[in-house]
Amino acid sequence: DDPETLRERPPVVTVMGHVDHGKTSLLDAIRRTNVTATEAGGITQHIGAYQVKIKDRKITFLDTPGHEAFTAMRARGAQVTDIAILVVAADDGVMPQTVEAINHAKAAGVPIVVAINKIDRPDANPERVKQQLSEYGLIPEEWGGDTIMVPVSAVKKEGINELLEMTLLTADMMELKANPDRPARGVVIEAKLDKGRGPVATVLVQKGTLKVGDNLVAGAVYGRVRALFDDKGERVKSAEPSMPVEVLGLSDLPQAGDIFQVVEDEKLARQIAALRQEEHRQEEFKAAAK
Ligand code: GTP
Ligand code: NA
Ligand code: MG
Repeated sequence: DDPETLRERPPVVTVMGHVDHGKTSLLDAIRRTNVTATEAGGITQHIGAYQVKIKDRKITFLDTPGHEAFTAMRARGAQVTDIAILVVAADDGVMPQTVEAINHAKAAGVPIVVAINKIDRPDANPERVKQQLSEYGLIPEEWGGDTIMVPVSAVKKEGINELLEMTLLTADMMELKANPDRPARGVVIEAKLDKGRGPVATVLVQKGTLKVGDNLVAGAVYGRVRALFDDKGERVKSAEPSMPVEVLGLSDLPQAGDIFQVVEDEKLARQIAALRQEEHRQEEFKAAAK
């Protein structure tokens, strides 16, 4: 894209960390809602995406499943991410999935902001967490390093504003920009079959503006955008860069991590989707023959 066409866009942030270190609780505190209470067993079952507004600025958050089985999906999550918030419980300290998250973020070249969570607990030991993280190359600023570490309590809603400010500060240093005036392109965050509405895909727009009526290809699936819903479930006419949005009108379910793009007409969309389906079939055939 021509640099003249680029506009500032909100940072896309993934919250990563070990199971039960408080990723969902932290997102709840940020949104001031209560997602964990309605989750089966308190375990995140899907990837959610939402935007929060801080004064006149926005941050897009992607929740990630805490389950080990979704490690691969989390690895994909880092690719749509500008900044990773690494949640480390101050009582538990660095655990295997903490290290995994650090490795994912490093491999993707994504800066890490550390949220040292559960500081309200009597057995909290933030200094020990800093020491442990230093062993993985994350040196806190107060020790002469360049990793921002913010003590927080998701439950007591402490340190949340500071964490958001530090996230925006990190974003400022990255100069995140995109051209909103072009056909949209982005990534599928999740997709599910809804009884009444058919295939529903949550997508993150990365470039351009996605509009109702657009023809799109998402992985091996095509469709014409029938309706768009924002993270609050409200109908919207369009979605700008860094905005997560639910898309109705796809022919089938794309896969999480699939790229989507708007194309000129439906016929072209259908042809590209058919080509990709054929590619998938050949890959499956090759895999089965092995
Ligand atoms: P998974 O998605 O299953 O990996 O878990 P998670 O990282 O999303 O953790 P979750 O938010 O479900 O929190 C796990 C448990 O820790 C819950 O019982 C929370 O109430 C508790 N918890 C989270 N944040 C805090 C905190 O700041 N202080 C205290 N005391 N407990 C917390
Ligand atoms: Na949990
Ligand atoms: Mg969770």
